[in-house]
Amino acid sequence: GAPIEVDISALKPGEKLTVEWRGKPVWIIRRTPEQLESLKATEALVADPNSERKAAEVTPMEETRNTWRSIKPEVFVAVGICSHLGCSPVDRFTPGAQPSLPADWAGGFLCPCHGSTFDLAGRVYKNKPAPDNLEVPPYTFVSDTVLRIG
Ligand code: FES
Repeated sequence: GAPIEVDISALKPGEKLTVEWRGKPVWIIRRTPEQLESLKATEALVADPNSERKAAEVTPMEETRNTWRSIKPEVFVAVGICSHLGCSPVDRFTPGAQPSLPADWAGGFLCPCHGSTFDLAGRVYKNKPAPDNLEVPPYTFVSDTVLRIG
């Protein structure tokens, strides 16, 4: 599939945009400073904090091999497909106790199929059926407000 360009100028902090790339949903989230801070708290709780497993079909880019799993810390780009059996996780951005989530939930994504949970960098929590973090697709910034995915 051809690369796609996405204008993210209207995306406000805490908001998510979903676009389609190669028939898959790709999420673009502008994370707030609090959401970025939450990634420090989840560091010890996720199965693969540094994304060293490489089961994903796309090899992550060097520029996204960091705690945020993104080129710019605030802009998170990920394929919204669970690495277990392919369901689409749903947003559970609000920290705090929520049904089916740990009491110390820091915000992230919940897969409705078998309960895998992911932090706001798409990193899967320990002891969950999903074997891998959410995939980060190849992308670049064409400008400050336009992304090219693919
Ligand atoms: Fe997501 Fe099974 S498909 S937990």
